[in-house]
Amino acid sequence: MTETLDISITKNQNSRLAQTDFENLPFGRTFSDHMFVADYADGEWKAFQIVPYGNISMSPAISSLHYGQSFFEGLKAYKHVDGKVSVFRPYMNAARFNKSAERLCMPQLPEDIFVQSIAALVDIDSNWIPTKAGHSLYIRPFMFATDPFLGVQPSQTYKYMVLAGPVGPYFTKPLKVKIETHFSRSTEGGFGYAKAAGNYGGAMLPSRKAVEEGYDQLIWTDSKEHAYMEELGAANVMFILDGKLITPSTRDTILKGVTRDTVLQLARDWGYPVEERRVSVAEILEGAKNGKLTDAFGAGTAATIAPIGVIEHEGNVYTLPDPTQREFSKKVLKTLDEIRYGVTADPYGWNYMV
Ligand code: COI
Repeated sequence: MTETLDISITKNQNSRLAQTDFENLPFGRTFSDHMFVADYADGEWKAFQIVPYGNISMSPAISSLHYGQSFFEGLKAYKHVDGKVSVFRPYMNAARFNKSAERLCMPQLPEDIFVQSIAALVDIDSNWIPTKAGHSLYIRPFMFATDPFLGVQPSQTYKYMVLAGPVGPYFTKPLKVKIETHFSRSTEGGFGYAKAAGNYGGAMLPSRKAVEEGYDQLIWTDSKEHAYMEELGAANVMFILDGKLITPSTRDTILKGVTRDTVLQLARDWGYPVEERRVSVAEILEGAKNGKLTDAFGAGTAATIAPIGVIEHEGNVYTLPDPTQREFSKKVLKTLDEIRYGVTADPYGWNYMV
């Protein structure tokens, strides 16, 4: 760890904590009392501040609004059963943050600044961390271009900010998903592996169409043939096929998820054969038909472990085994929760204590 970040702190004098309904926490609607802000100019990051959460004033010409130089991360803080507070694997997110920055021609943020900014915000707003099962403090770091300039070129100035907010489960029931065979989320040579804002904007129309057809989410497939699985909505996708954990290998089009990495590590340690490779739609549907597909789920920070109940592909509907009876995804979620809430030891050193 480098020296401690010099952060100017302005406390919120009008906390909204007491008025917040912790029994009703839809994802992404409630924000804690503070936010972290830093500016990039003249080739360096400066003006590290924690200020009351609130609106910011910007020129309507900032290039992030016009040309999409904007990306984000998502991670979570947990309150342990003994009251201690941790953030889950923040250095993984810090590394991916810089991969996204590189792809969008934006400045690198030293990993220690990323992690310390988050730790400082979580510390000041630690009373906002819910304690109920399946709940946590969702943390949203993001960077965007701030030059008020309409020329198409990388901005010279940027803002880095971190928001936090208490959340419950993102999905509350097994997912009914459609395998997408027309739209694409990303292409080879594109930036699907980055958490670019534009990846999510471009996914909205296909996702809304899927919802209109009665599905919760879609499974993205490769853009050339629509024959290989890529991701599930905004999460990675994983399958237990013939007793093996199978997931699409990461490439230009696929996000290298922290939860994905965590699940792979647990599976390997439990002795499951693990295959990171191209996963064809045909083999998964065949497994759904012949009973060899015993588990299928999304893995993501917001989604955690989200079981898939039903898969549709070009008019054919496949019902997968009852999610409440599945061995792997249930064990993975239980193990993860026990580590993250400090119920058991953390043999992997995944909890970054605040
Ligand atoms: C996350 O899991 O943090 C994500 O990026 C998903 C989010 C877009 C809801």
